[in-house]
Amino acid sequence: MKTIIKKKFLRFSCCIIGLIVLVGCKQSLLNEKNDYTEAELYRPNFHFTPKKGWMNDPNGMFYYNGYYHLFYQHYPDSNVWGPMHWGHAISTDLISWTEKPIAIYPDEKGYIFSGSAVVDVKNTSGFGSLKNPPMVAMFTYHDMKKEKAGETNYQSQGIAYSLNEGLTWTKYEANPIIKNPNIKDFRDPKMTWDAIHQQWIMVLAAGDKTMFYGSKNLKDWKLLSDFGKEIGAHGGVWECPDFFPMLVDGTDDYKWVMLLSINPGGPNGGSATQYFVGDFDGKTFTIDDAFSKDVKEQNGLWIDYGRDNYAGVTWSNISEVDGRKLFIGWMSNWDYAQKVPTETWRSSMTIPRELVLVKEGNHYTVSSKPVKELKNYIAKTINKESIKIDKEMILVDKSVVDLSKLDIQFSLKDLKKDVYTFSFSNNSKNIIQFGINKKENYFFIDRSKSGKIAFSDIFANKISKAPFKADFDKMDIRVIVDKTSIEIFYNNGKTVMTEIFFPDQPMEYFSVSKANTDYTIENLIINQLNFN
Ligand code: FRU
Repeated sequence: MKTIIKKKFLRFSCCIIGLIVLVGCKQSLLNEKNDYTEAELYRPNFHFTPKKGWMNDPNGMFYYNGYYHLFYQHYPDSNVWGPMHWGHAISTDLISWTEKPIAIYPDEKGYIFSGSAVVDVKNTSGFGSLKNPPMVAMFTYHDMKKEKAGETNYQSQGIAYSLNEGLTWTKYEANPIIKNPNIKDFRDPKMTWDAIHQQWIMVLAAGDKTMFYGSKNLKDWKLLSDFGKEIGAHGGVWECPDFFPMLVDGTDDYKWVMLLSINPGGPNGGSATQYFVGDFDGKTFTIDDAFSKDVKEQNGLWIDYGRDNYAGVTWSNISEVDGRKLFIGWMSNWDYAQKVPTETWRSSMTIPRELVLVKEGNHYTVSSKPVKELKNYIAKTINKESIKIDKEMILVDKSVVDLSKLDIQFSLKDLKKDVYTFSFSNNSKNIIQFGINKKENYFFIDRSKSGKIAFSDIFANKISKAPFKADFDKMDIRVIVDKTSIEIFYNNGKTVMTEIFFPDQPMEYFSVSKANTDYTIENLIINQLNFN
């Protein structure tokens, strides 16, 4: 009897030990997958995020005294949108950012919505002196009380100035300087010094159009004209315009370019930024027939066809010696921005980009490329001259590089009417795919299996597409990857797709799929970036 009990006890204990080992194993496997802090897994390596709290649009960017200034829509007390402040960060090279104290706080006149800032070098405003020129910011006051009371005139424009390089700002006592003309959406003023007509100009979004204003002193503004009711995408409200002259690449000719964000109504749903190219006589912006035709035929021309580049605008006061048009966008989409799976902070900015105006035949394209400063962060380079793709293959894996900070460039040759797919993936079966569908003529990103997607029904319900018309058998591609973002620049940045993703563990492989007929990857350059 005793031995039976002993045996039974022994068997029982073995089972328990077995169970403990099994559970233990499973636990450690789970840990292997989930044992990351939020910051380790999701805080970008080299895309700007606020330390804590909510961020949306970039605002008021200018360059002065060796520093690029970036302000942004910010709610420091929560990870969802709320009373808007202007956060502030500075950088000497557009890549490494230092967050500064909050620049502009909401007050009794309202939240501080998006806007712009300029360095008033000639002290036209009188807020500073020639020796210490003021920075002047214009923003939209959004009066929540009026909005809740059902009034339409709750957005107006105010200004503030800084005499210490954007660190602290004094609001002008006569605010608002532009009162609401009874237009519900009346916001996001973007100021520029128009050297051609020797005036300050400002453009703002007004419902389904933009309105231009001119000024001599940044305080008194006169309405010049409006633009846009009959052109471009109108599937949502117009927001965050930008307006500036640009040299046509390789010539001495210039054109005026308007960037215009729209939400919803983007080419792949939700928020996106379109552009217009035309002429400005100091009062009115006009678009010629050829460009109007392009806009119509292509359902709008977009700075970025991916779902995560919104409200982007350019830096002011870039020196003439530098001469670049520098742009940054908010790397999210109002469709799901407030639900993405980060808690401490929400959202990051795109990689800063240089915009270039390209003319081919009668057609203008605003192309983008990552700023050249990124190359200063290259720690090592893997080079492959030519790879014939006749089977699926891993191009690089985590034993060679860290796949959460790469700048990859390559060209494709011998392309046919076929589908060319590249991917980042990991052993948790997360995969983000992108490439070219030459059967149906579009570039694509598919993040439907990229990791966490369930926080929103529309985050990954469709493949994002960027259509193309002209045929080609070669294509150059540049891909910038961080922990949670991919930015793809096709054809020297003439078509761009930017999207975010949230893998369960870091990506481990960069691979290419087989197509029906063999093709070649040429000059593959994999740059490992390094940030301390
Ligand atoms: C664009 C936008 C702007 C507005 C701001 C408010 O994303 O809606 O039009 O000024 O965000 O945070």
